[in-house]
Order: sequence, then structure tokens, then C-alpha cells
Amino acid sequence: MLDEIIKDRRTIRKFEDKPVPREILEEILQYSLMGPSYGNARPVQFLVVEDKEKLKALSEIETFGTKYIADVPEVILIMADTEISQTWVEECSIAASYLQLLAQEKGLNTSWVNLKSGETNDGVEIQTFLRTLFGIPKNFSTLCMIPIGYGSEKVRKRDEFDVSSKVHYEKF
Ligand SMILES: Cc1cc2nc3c(=O)[nH]c(=O)nc-3n(C[C@H](O)[C@H](O)[C@H](O)COP(=O)(O)O)c2cc1C
Repeated sequence: MLDEIIKDRRTIRKFEDKPVPREILEEILQYSLMGPSYGNARPVQFLVVEDKEKLKALSEIETFGTKYIADVPEVILIMADTEISQTWVEECSIAASYLQLLAQEKGLNTSWVNLKSGETNDGVEIQTFLRTLFGIPKNFSTLCMIPIGYGSEKVRKRDEFDVSSKVHYEKF
């Protein structure tokens, strides 16, 4: 059930040294692109990174605590064509959220590392750094990367919060 999957998904940053089977990954990516899209523009694309050297390069961005990326089996960069969509952040967020839940459903774990803005440790603008490293065209911007794999860390207890205090009816 979806509510159980939502409850079970937690941010996981340590993974077994075991690749995600390609057919499972492709299924997850396919369904992650089926969310709503403004004007049905479908601007989102994925870039799968498994190469150890590239993962190391991503880990060295460091601005957002990216060190652990060097040790993950793979990450999915989530990007969108900003020439065909003014809602690229929303569209990437939808794809990322779907991806995390689909992965959870398949017994996989994920995290989320923001890449939208800022600079690398070496002072290079992050979008420029990513375009150079992966040959991403200028009209694409990357929102985040999602590490994915079989988690090897103990899942922390979920911090409960009072949902009712965040929901308003008719008046704030
Ligand atoms: C927009 C966004 C940015 C995030 N950035 C990072 C990040 O840079 N590095 C990281 O390890 N986790 C990042 N996270 C994961 C959060 O730290 C995590 O979701 C939060 O601690 C709640 O824990 P949970 O996902 O287990 O419920 C990010 C999550 C979101 C939604």
C-alpha cells in the first residue's frame, strides 16, 4: 500500500556494494516520469551515474555534505529542459519524489542531494560543473541527485510530527 511505502521511506546514506539490477532501475525510472507535467511538456530527463571516478567527482562538490556519494553504488541526476518548461523545479521534484517511493516499493533505499544552486568547493557554479563533467547541454538544469541502492545502515526512528497542526480548513 502506498501509505506504508511513504511511511517506510527514510533517507539512507550508506549502501551495500551491490548494483541495482538494470531492469529494476529502468522500471523505476520509467514510472518516475509519469507524474503530472505542466502543459504535458515532459521536460525531465535522468542521468544515471555508476562510474566510480564520476561518483568521486560528485562527492567532492562537498557544499551540501556530498562526501558519501563516493561510496554509493549509483546516483540518478534529475534534470530538466528549461527551454521547454518554466516549471522545471516542480517537474524535477515530482519525478524525484516518485522515484524515491518507487525505489522503496522495490526494496531499495534512496537519499536526496540538492544541486540546484551554489558553488563547488573550488568555486565553480554547480550547474557549470555538472555540464562540464557529464556533457549536459546548456538548456538543461539539474535539481538534485538521488543515490539509490540497497541500504546498509540502521533506519532511524521517524520523528513524529503533529500533522494536524499543518492542515487548515477554510481559514489558516
Ligand atoms: C530539497 C531537499 C534537499 C535535501 N538535501 C540533502 C542533502 O544535500 N544531503 C543529504 O544527505 N540529504 C538531503 N536531503 C534529505 C533530508 O535531509 C531528509 O529528507 C530529512 O532529514 C528527513 O529525513 P527522511 O528523508 O528520512 O524522512 C534533502 C531533502 C530534500 C527534500
